[in-house]
Amino acid sequence: MLHTFSTQKWGEYFPDLTQQCAINNLEDGNILYFPSLSFALSPEEQQFLSPDFADPHAKNISYQANCHKLWGFQHLSDTQHTQLKAMLDRFCHSSFDLIKNLLPHYAHQLTIARTSYRPVQISGRKTSYRKDDKRLHVDAFPSAPNQGKRILRVFCNINPNGEDRIWRIGEPFLNVANRFIPQIHKPIPGSAALLRLLKITKSYRTLYDHYMLQMHNLMKADEEYQKAAIQQEIRFPPGSTWIVQTDDVSHAAMQGQYLLEQTFYLPVKAMRDESKSPLCILEKILNQKLV
Ligand code: SIN
Ligand code: FE
Repeated sequence: MLHTFSTQKWGEYFPDLTQQCAINNLEDGNILYFPSLSFALSPEEQQFLSPDFADPHAKNISYQANCHKLWGFQHLSDTQHTQLKAMLDRFCHSSFDLIKNLLPHYAHQLTIARTSYRPVQISGRKTSYRKDDKRLHVDAFPSAPNQGKRILRVFCNINPNGEDRIWRIGEPFLNVANRFIPQIHKPIPGSAALLRLLKITKSYRTLYDHYMLQMHNLMKADEEYQKAAIQQEIRFPPGSTWIVQTDDVSHAAMQGQYLLEQTFYLPVKAMRDESKSPLCILEKILNQKLV
């Protein structure tokens, strides 16, 4: 489940064998875990270790590196805005360096998506069941269809008070898919075009996105499944980093505060073994092309 690395620096070099081990483990649905890879904040950045800067309507403070845009915040002066942006930009580049060195096979095909900062305590946060990440789920985004691409995420716990990030990890993707896919109806003809036209989705919601989103929703709605599914608790202490493909690894975040996260998208073609992708697994179960 966890494949552990002794890495201490974001720009560290990895020998060939370690790179191969990393890509195989990741594509097999394991978590690449770096217990000694911390992300240091400068003295000025320590001021952001407070939930007060997060807009209560947004789950996270978000940053998009290619356009230097920050959103989901409140109460930031101009100087603080610049400082927080620089902190998230540095995390984005550090994460990319780690991926480039550890998974060079992926590096030139990755899209750098959103960076997020999560300064709000998860436990006790009230939200609708679909948005509740305390329930086991695979990631799928209602407004941002990824059209089959893999979701690769780097997480780092920066909690200053010794608090672990506590996750539950569920059963392998194939088991999740075999359980939920038979319950999912085909989309209503024309609905994907309409969602696009009404700008509800940022791009076309393919059949793949439809099945992934329905699976995400059905998993979260199923109270019995949440309790009975085979699962394991994992604790990520402060100062640790982990890499997960969250479209494939069933996960739930139960407790913790102050997390940095970087999302990348990866075309299925860039994988060492495409047959392990959620896209290929779903296409096989449904016996049809989904993108
Ligand atoms: C999630 O991806 O479901 C949440 C992860 C986290 O915030 O720890
Ligand atoms: Fe998630």
